[in-house]
Amino acid sequence: MICFGFSGYLLPWNKLAFFATKVGTEIAGVVPVVGRPALRFLRGGDDVTGATLTRFFGFHVAVLPATATVFIAIHVLLVQLHGMHVPHKYENNYRRMKFFPNFILRDLIGWILAIGVLAALAALFPWELGEKADAFAPAPAGIKPEWYFLFMFQTLKLIPAKILGMDGEVLGIMAFNIVALLLFIVPFVDRSPENRRRRLVFNALGGLALLYIVVMTIVGYVT
Ligand code: HEM
Repeated sequence: MICFGFSGYLLPWNKLAFFATKVGTEIAGVVPVVGRPALRFLRGGDDVTGATLTRFFGFHVAVLPATATVFIAIHVLLVQLHGMHVPHKYENNYRRMKFFPNFILRDLIGWILAIGVLAALAALFPWELGEKADAFAPAPAGIKPEWYFLFMFQTLKLIPAKILGMDGEVLGIMAFNIVALLLFIVPFVDRSPENRRRRLVFNALGGLALLYIVVMTIVGYVT
């Protein structure tokens, strides 16, 4: 979702989009060893240019949707194979229904409502493209990312420039990558619902992470 949000944001090719992508890819570029090649891969060269726009469009409407489709297919398949997890107290006493067509049709109601709301919002509050990107203009003062990236932005702003002789920003970015990796492996580590103590540890960690994101987002907004 974050990749979708990041790649889609460049597509209007306005001033904000241009600088958001410039800053965002620069952040990727500071990571040791892989950073520089990643930056060139994302930008399609050394700078954010028309080549970046073409590339991001390709990521946004082809590569990412295809990747997401594969993951969603695996997810639906696993749900079909293993069934949904049900809390113990409901184990023998819950309503079952067929995935197709019963569940799908019920699910569809939600989707149609959501698309209706989205279409209504787009019609009532049309969003203009804004000022066209100008690669030679200075970055707008006080530029901030969208709300979903704000907590990371705010964290990087608060980290000291140097920590134990290392670049603070690099350490911050590495820390985010490590946390993302940890989040990815939680389902493989936290496997026993019976282990109440372990469950408590994971719930507490998840709660703390959410709290951190909410607080940093608010701090990012108001400062
Ligand atoms: C989770 C899925 C997705 C997310 C989070 C997402 C996010 C975004 C964002 C943030 C923008 C920038 C909008 C703006 O500032 O004007 C955008 C633009 C765009 N997205 Fe997506 N997107 C998603 C899926 C898709 C898919 C599946 C397609 C098409 C196959 C698509 C096509 C486009 C196009 C054509 C634009 C440019 C339109 C414009 O800027 O007005 N997006 N997207």
